[in-house]
Amino acid sequence: MTFTITSLRPTLCIFTLFILFFFTLWSINRYFYTKLEEIEEITSEQSDININRKYCTADKCKFLFTYTVEEQESQSNRHFESLIQIAQQLGRTMVLTNVEKSRISSRNHFPFNFYYNVDELSKEFPQVKFILQCEFQKWAEERYNKSDTIHVVLENSKSNPNYTVQYDTPYIDELVKEYEMDRFNLKLDNSTIFKRISIGTNGRSPRKGGKNNDLKNFLSEELESNAEVMLITQKGIRGPIFERLTPIPYASHITNAASNLTNQLKPYIAIHWRMESAKLNLMPKCAESLVTYLRNLSLTTGITTIYLATDYPLAEYKNKTAQSETFSHIYEEHHTAMKILNSSLNINTWVSTHALDYLQLTLDPTKKELLLKELSGGGIQGIFDKLILIQADYFIGGPKNCCRYLSTYTLQVEEARMQLLKNNGTIKNKIDRWKLY
Ligand SMILES: *[C@@H]1O[C@H](CO)[C@@H](O)[C@H](O)[C@H]1NC(C)=O
Ligand SMILES: *[C@@H]1O[C@H](CO)[C@@H](O)[C@H](O)[C@H]1NC(C)=O
Ligand SMILES: *[C@@H]1O[C@H](CO)[C@@H](O)[C@H](O)[C@H]1NC(C)=O
Ligand SMILES: *[C@@H]1O[C@H](CO)[C@@H](O)[C@H](O)[C@H]1NC(C)=O
Ligand SMILES: *[C@@H]1O[C@H](CO)[C@@H](O)[C@H](O)[C@H]1NC(C)=O
Ligand SMILES: *[C@@H]1O[C@H](CO)[C@@H](O)[C@H](O)[C@H]1NC(C)=O
Ligand SMILES: *[C@@H]1O[C@H](CO)[C@@H](O)[C@H](O)[C@H]1NC(C)=O
Ligand SMILES: *[C@@H]1O[C@H](CO)[C@@H](O)[C@H](O)[C@H]1NC(C)=O
Repeated sequence: MTFTITSLRPTLCIFTLFILFFFTLWSINRYFYTKLEEIEEITSEQSDININRKYCTADKCKFLFTYTVEEQESQSNRHFESLIQIAQQLGRTMVLTNVEKSRISSRNHFPFNFYYNVDELSKEFPQVKFILQCEFQKWAEERYNKSDTIHVVLENSKSNPNYTVQYDTPYIDELVKEYEMDRFNLKLDNSTIFKRISIGTNGRSPRKGGKNNDLKNFLSEELESNAEVMLITQKGIRGPIFERLTPIPYASHITNAASNLTNQLKPYIAIHWRMESAKLNLMPKCAESLVTYLRNLSLTTGITTIYLATDYPLAEYKNKTAQSETFSHIYEEHHTAMKILNSSLNINTWVSTHALDYLQLTLDPTKKELLLKELSGGGIQGIFDKLILIQADYFIGGPKNCCRYLSTYTLQVEEARMQLLKNNGTIKNKIDRWKLY
């Protein structure tokens, strides 16, 4: 299996050759100038249609390009699904935006299928066409006429249930500076419509969604546009906009690696210790309590294999950085807590088990540095850990003050475990939390 890394350099050579060709003819014989201009137009039009057919099997392409999604993976996964639902509503091809460090954004270096299973996604949305960002970029680059755009921001409100529409002054400079939007070779200028739409009080809870047919109809009308590319993003939306779906399934290389490890470990107890936002001075006591709890659980269940998923830095990359972007300061107390845990029990992690070493072999060797950064900063191993937590015989979270107590990451694990508990009795609990003694 190989992952191609998006090239950021536009390939303009076909276009340049084309221009050169006509320019030469023009210099040779000015008399034909107007005629040639006509021919060029017809030729380019035919060529653009051919290019469109190649990339979206239609004479005209209409894409929905979510160039950035807020929040980390468990949340952005669901936000991305809401945007696919909009693409379906509009009959637009969904661009599968790049991923890296637990984020979905056009600036990232890994293709969407590094994290997610595109075949499974297509099965869940049989009416939606998908295209990887690198292919979309190639389409935009190959085009003779730049493709036109519309820019949309979706937001919501705490108190105003009304749907509203506002038009903003184009902020191209910001899009170029923050998202390198100029590298897509799109027609993005002051003539581009910048629309800001409030979806009322919808999309405020990660736990809730709804059919929202009136919102669907409203968006279908408001987002009706001939523009070939709809650039879309959202601000402040924290939950599903429509029906709450199961998360986008993860790429089979990750699920395979995870089932390999669960087969080796089973039966096992998995601990999720997210140290971010824990009370610092409690950290050593939290660790001692966890050790006591685990010794007792091992004694009563006979299960001695322990797997730890944590945002504490496990991989060495220059300075040890946390395995979550939002966890920025690692203090002595965190190190002490980890020492207490690690010296008392035999702890398995994705590092100690070498479960992700295969990535080094399958990725393009020139991208080694990128992969090291990815593994040091809470990206793909966060997904891997999630899969190991889901399959564990016992899943143990931290008590209040010892960890970040509530997160959509934990919620996603709990929901998947609920399904497993319902379907078969191979796991023993949904979640238990160790007690602070
Ligand atoms: C390219 O742009 C020109 C000028 O706007 C237009 O006349 C022509 O029809 C366009 N060609 C295509 C293929 O859209
Ligand atoms: C929402 O719309 C209704 C009906 O148009 C209007 O009466 C109300 O004032 C609006 N609410 C807000 C907060 O703007
Ligand atoms: C677009 O409009 C803004 C403000 O009206 C102006 O500052 C900017 O130079 C314009 N950009 C282009 C490319 O015309
Ligand atoms: C998983 O195990 C299978 C069978 O042992 C092996 O062929 C495969 O390479 C392993 N995959 C990973 C990612 O470890
Ligand atoms: C040990 O585990 C058992 C069964 O899970 C529980 O009833 C008991 O309270 C635990 N003891 C301690 C000291 O945590
Ligand atoms: C590592 O941390 C030290 C001290 O905090 C800092 O001075 C240095 O710039 C950091 N190096 C890198 C590569 O981040
Ligand atoms: C735990 O200790 C072992 C050595 O005994 C070390 O190799 C490993 O990196 C430690 N794990 C953590 C999470 O600190
Ligand atoms: C348990 O359920 C999962 C998911 O439904 C399924 O993949 C797995 O094969 C089942 N295991 C057993 C032992 O029934």
